Amino acid sequence: MSDATIGVLPGDGVGPEVTRQAADVLQAVADRYGHRFDLRTGLVGLAAVTALGVAIDDETFDACAGSDAILFGAVGSLPADRSPAGRRPAGAVRPEHALWRLRKELQLFANLRPVQALESLHDASTIKPECLRGTDLVFVRELSAGLYYGHLESVPGKPSEIRRTPQGAQAVDTLLYTEHEIERVVRVAFELAVGRRGRVTSVDKANVLSSSLLWREVVDRVAPDYPTVVYDHLLVDACAMRLLRAPAEFDVVVTENLFGDILTDEASMLAGSIGMLPSASLGARRTAAGTFGLYEPIHGSAPDIAGQDVANPVGAILSAAMLLRHSLGLADEAAVVERAVEEVLDQGYRTPDLHHDGCTLVGTRALGRLVVDRVAAS
Ligand code: NAD
Ligand code: IPM
Ligand code: MN
Repeated sequence: MSDATIGVLPGDGVGPEVTRQAADVLQAVADRYGHRFDLRTGLVGLAAVTALGVAIDDETFDACAGSDAILFGAVGSLPADRSPAGRRPAGAVRPEHALWRLRKELQLFANLRPVQALESLHDASTIKPECLRGTDLVFVRELSAGLYYGHLESVPGKPSEIRRTPQGAQAVDTLLYTEHEIERVVRVAFELAVGRRGRVTSVDKANVLSSSLLWREVVDRVAPDYPTVVYDHLLVDACAMRLLRAPAEFDVVVTENLFGDILTDEASMLAGSIGMLPSASLGARRTAAGTFGLYEPIHGSAPDIAGQDVANPVGAILSAAMLLRHSLGLADEAAVVERAVEEVLDQGYRTPDLHHDGCTLVGTRALGRLVVDRVAAS
């Protein structure tokens, strides 16, 4: 029996809709296997900015920091085609700040984003089935440094800002990595590869960026510690192409923060929809039976479909499965959840993002319920 405290941060848009399904699945696991999960819900994102003036307040942050794991939905309020700068005064609190704070202050530096092209979804993908066959890869995205954090005081003289000058405006962002920040995430990737197919692809832009030259240097230094792993370097533009040309060739892909953000949205199309991909953001802190982490689908708040019960909850539910495996040490229960999701998809149930003729169209809640029922019957 496992006794765990889980911080639940549903956030904005479809965040609460998909997180509800993931939380119900966790409860179903607890009921079926005799565990006790104390799920404590908090306010983040736009909801918190509106109510409290901050994207996450100290009380919620501290409660999450003291839990065994965090189940996160999504934050943000703007549809993709509206520029933040055009909608908010400069310096205003952004809902996304909740994520930056959680990731940075909890030192969640390794963001695992697995991508599988399930056979039952090959027809739902925009990519040809013969390209998808055998696709089973995992991204390890560096999550606590790089361009996202160029604004921090810990990066003296390396700002991120827009400067208004008499000659016109200019803007600067800083891409800074220390050797230590690179090494710890690269080691996570090699360790993962040892338990998988033994292949690491390190992705960078070493033909242009100094940070990428250091990245390569560190990978070459660390790799000999893992003699059973074969590795190579790939430029990020070539990687973007190869992901669609021959995705099955990849096993573990390790890369810096922004490259990983972009490549994983691209890779979600291999799984059929961005609503499919889960993630685990891990650091070094140990829990009673695993590693503390934050778990969330890779998609955002999807304002264009929020409130309609149409969002695909699978990425959120599979994130809950990763939480069971990595933070609570419940690998068998995680596998039960993953099998339940596969069964539901194999049986042809689809949310609109994956729907086509011959399948059964269901909403967010109904799909979640189908998974819960299978967990209960496992
Ligand atoms: P998005 O991921 O929210 O949506 C992109 C597209 O994918 C939309 O057409 C949306 O309808 C669709 N989509 C997303 N999730 C889906 C799901 N579960 N099922 C079916 N379709 C889904 O990205 P965006 O529109 O660029 O960003 C919207 C807001 O979300 C922004 O404020 C952004 O900053 C934020 N965001 C937050 C996170 C996060 O919290 N981790 C991640 C990405 C974006
Ligand atoms: C993600 C999101 C975030 C990121 C945004 C909301 C800051 O796109 O989790 O992938 O870029 O990391
Ligand atoms: Mn993203």
